[in-house]
Amino acid sequence: MNAIFERTSVRQYTDETLSKEQIEQIVKAGFCAPSAVNAQPWEVIVVTDPKELEELSHFSPYAMCLKEAKLGVVLLANRDHQFGDAYDVMDLSAMSENMLVEARSLGLGDVWLGGYPEQERVEFLKTFFKLPENIVPYWVLSFGHPLHELKPKDKWDPKKVHYNTY
Ligand SMILES: Cc1cc2nc3c(=O)[nH]c(=O)nc-3n(C[C@H](O)[C@H](O)[C@H](O)COP(=O)(O)O)c2cc1C
Repeated sequence: MNAIFERTSVRQYTDETLSKEQIEQIVKAGFCAPSAVNAQPWEVIVVTDPKELEELSHFSPYAMCLKEAKLGVVLLANRDHQFGDAYDVMDLSAMSENMLVEARSLGLGDVWLGGYPEQERVEFLKTFFKLPENIVPYWVLSFGHPLHELKPKDKWDPKKVHYNTY
């Protein structure tokens, strides 16, 4: 699957918007992720409104790219469906990577914008979206058409791979 090898964080986007089909395809890919005991604790907020994306960019000092993004996806865990706090993080991480790779396969660029465990970022998201107590926000993914050619980093390091014994 070339999208995995082509994926790299993209923080600058063109003015071109994403189609409804592209957005649905990305989010659907997220829902295909594995989750512990198949709890599927996830929910998402799909943000496409430019003003809202601009406001959302203030949730973290490292999320300025949301100002240019055409889609933001906020990852949420529903405590009523969770297997455990740590499992929520794993399940939402699996979901996130699926969405990042799917967007790449559609020719789009994206980046994961960290929230949890930075409590002030989590609190910002809770307040911003007026979330009920049982819904916990974790982080945000940013998407758009890449402004520049992608240059994935070469991270392959055979020395870090141990076969049968350390
Ligand atoms: C948990 C997590 C949090 C991240 N948070 C941010 C962030 O807040 N802002 C940002 O610009 N990039 C963020 N990134 C992207 C990383 O900086 C990026 O993945 C890393 O530098 C490797 O580069 P690559 O994605 O191009 O391979 C985050 C990635 C992960 C997995």
